[in-house]
Amino acid sequence: MDSILVRGNGPLNGEIPIAGAKNACLTLMPATLLSDAPLTLTNAPRLSDIRTMTALLQSLGAEVASLQDGQVLALSSHDLNNHRADYEIVRKMRASILVLGPMLARHGHAEVSLPGGCAIGARPVDLHLKALEAMGAELDLRDGYVHAKAPLGGLKGGIVDFPFVSVGATENALMAATLAKGTTVLKNAAREPEIVDLAQCLRRMGAQIEGEGTSEITIQGVDSLGGATHPVVTDRIELGTYMLAPAIAGGEVECLGGRMELVAAFAEKLDAAGVSVTETARGLKVARRNGRVDAVDVVTEPFPGFPTDLQAQMMALMCTAAGKSVLEEKIFENRFMHAPELIRMGAQIDVHGGTATVTGVERLKGAPVMATDLRASVSLILAGLAAEGETIVSRVYHLDRGYERVEEKLGACGAHIERVKTE
Ligand code: UD1
Repeated sequence: MDSILVRGNGPLNGEIPIAGAKNACLTLMPATLLSDAPLTLTNAPRLSDIRTMTALLQSLGAEVASLQDGQVLALSSHDLNNHRADYEIVRKMRASILVLGPMLARHGHAEVSLPGGCAIGARPVDLHLKALEAMGAELDLRDGYVHAKAPLGGLKGGIVDFPFVSVGATENALMAATLAKGTTVLKNAAREPEIVDLAQCLRRMGAQIEGEGTSEITIQGVDSLGGATHPVVTDRIELGTYMLAPAIAGGEVECLGGRMELVAAFAEKLDAAGVSVTETARGLKVARRNGRVDAVDVVTEPFPGFPTDLQAQMMALMCTAAGKSVLEEKIFENRFMHAPELIRMGAQIDVHGGTATVTGVERLKGAPVMATDLRASVSLILAGLAAEGETIVSRVYHLDRGYERVEEKLGACGAHIERVKTE
């Protein structure tokens, strides 16, 4: 298992290219299941989660070719021969559930393993299932699988009123509704940029969708969808993560491809903490205004609020801020597993339920720490950039699920960071 070694060695200066969004790509790829015609995704990130989705789609009979060093994915589902998404693949990645809606909509039936629990909470899929039921699907949960059948003549448009905002459930419902008969209205829909990106791609394929990016999306079902070429939207979480690097270590970094509207709530918090974020022709330039950042409070919320996927990284920054900050996690229970690891580096953090109170210290100290999930692992690397001495982050397979070439990107700005290969 590889580890990452980081030595806190002062300010970072340079530019970091931001990749296409993992979470957008993981929902755009299953969209291939909706059509006979080819779907080409450009600006794809090169990540292990993308390879897992590739394996899942291939197991269903789809063709997925990875071109231009993985930055272009050529997908085709003209010949699906299997309608069962197996537990062996699904258990590796929750996003696998996103094949359910499209397979059901186009083929009238699907069997998808239930994803099971994950490190950051229970994360059920009940909202995905309720949405499909509202379109007439018959669902049967047995042997750990969802056995789904569309009524004779296919899914029917319906009104789906989500009791709370779910990104994944909105995506599954949106894809299924494109081929349902009649009109579907998704109420209290997620407004994340990844949803907007999915809607734009589906529209390129011939879908009739209105209202993406608002909490009510209306879809007029069509008989079939065609092919498309679509660029994956910039990864706002990778963007936010690298914006934190100069905030934590000093210096000035330009994040190429970054756009303010993707990270507005987050950039506002950085500004309040004393970190300036400036739009440039090529992206976002980030630098601390003074020596030490100020403590700010954060509450995670669905988009356009502060993203849960940046909470761990923001906590790393708050560990060395002047004063006390309160971070409240409202999306997932049990998403503070990075806190005990940061404490090993000298941070002062009290966790009570969904709230963490961080009292900033002058300087963190390097230590061997363990990554517990994707965003937690990168928060430990950020903390290592600001720490005295050496930090070794083990279990970095979590990191490889969501960040491509992290050593290269930070190394190019002067960070002392390397991957240590172990058998
Ligand atoms: C997606 C992202 C994940 C991100 C999260 C929040 C992907 C592959 N994953 O996850 O990285 O952290 O959005 O931005 O894009 N819930 C239910 N029932 C459901 C679905 C969700 O109770 O059927 C709950 C979840 O447990 C959670 C909340 O709803 O408490 C929000 O989850 P959701 O937005 O669905 O997150 P994911 O789509 O799983």
